[in-house]
Amino acid sequence: MNATSTDAGTGTGTGTGTRILTGDRPTGRLHVGHYFGSLENRVRLQNEGAELHVVIADYQVLTDRDIAANLPGYVEELLLDYLAVGIDPERAVIFTHSSVPALNQLLLPFLSLVSVAELQRNPTVKDEIKHSSQAAVSGLMFTYPVHQAADILFCKANTVPVGRDQLPHLEVTRTVARRFNERYAPPGAPVFPEPEALLSAAPLLLGTDGGKMSKSRGNAIQLAADADETARLIRGAKTDTERRISYEPERRPEVSSLVLLAALCLERDPVEVADEIGGGGAAALKQLVTTAVNDRFAPVRARRAELARDRGHLREVLGRGNKQANAVADATLEEVRAVMDCVY
Ligand code: TRP
Repeated sequence: MNATSTDAGTGTGTGTGTRILTGDRPTGRLHVGHYFGSLENRVRLQNEGAELHVVIADYQVLTDRDIAANLPGYVEELLLDYLAVGIDPERAVIFTHSSVPALNQLLLPFLSLVSVAELQRNPTVKDEIKHSSQAAVSGLMFTYPVHQAADILFCKANTVPVGRDQLPHLEVTRTVARRFNERYAPPGAPVFPEPEALLSAAPLLLGTDGGKMSKSRGNAIQLAADADETARLIRGAKTDTERRISYEPERRPEVSSLVLLAALCLERDPVEVADEIGGGGAAALKQLVTTAVNDRFAPVRARRAELARDRGHLREVLGRGNKQANAVADATLEEVRAVMDCVY
């Protein structure tokens, strides 16, 4: 696969001409892993002039659970996180998946372009099935990557800032775009771009239990957490029995993830941070991480608290985003139906 680039100073994917779609499921507040894995990139690209679309993927909550609990509350939490980190609704389109019917109509033709075997071997789907709270795997779980293709392609996004865990999904999107163009588009006039993943230069952060950091697994440091909660979570984080702190992600994943978190917050090199702590051990490491996280996110947390006081503004932002997303989706669906010869 040659569909990814990183933000490691290459300038790839920056500036105008870049159309971005990315998003999150409304299942909880966003955490520091989201920030360094994706949010930071979204904001940077927006500020460099890219067109940014952010989907709040409410239907997709049902992929791994039977009931999508507290949707209005979680949608609001996501909006607050987005606005607090600097996504600017004057420039970006933030919308809820279920509010854009034309987007979801793309799912049917897209499903016809992938095989069941391809869906069954998707590693992200496999991982989510493993952590699913459903008694049986639903059809929606299997079609999840195709849904995501519709999310990305309805606005013809060419760039998708995501965490590494989402790469298999993006590969499905590229496949769908390519096959759709091959099957239906007139020669030389593709309907959809084959979008590229934009990975953060930061390696993946682990949760405080050493597993994947996840907003629904209770192992995440939320952007909105206060200083005490942050300290408590980091105090309880898993480490290992070796006294000397080092940055060796393969051999010492838990300790290295904490070092990395401090380094990202401080904008420093993780090896240097680890060397400085050295024989100070896990206690010194945790102290450093706590201060680094709390200092780095203090302004975001303050802005978030301020925004939370004006619910009317949040509703207005979402209403405007939904309207814009519908206009874009209607136009794409019209084009799709035209090339598929479904206009009657
Ligand atoms: N699957 C993503 C998640 O679990 C959310 C998502 C939905 C998404 N649609 C998307 C991400 C499109 C990137 C692009 O968080």
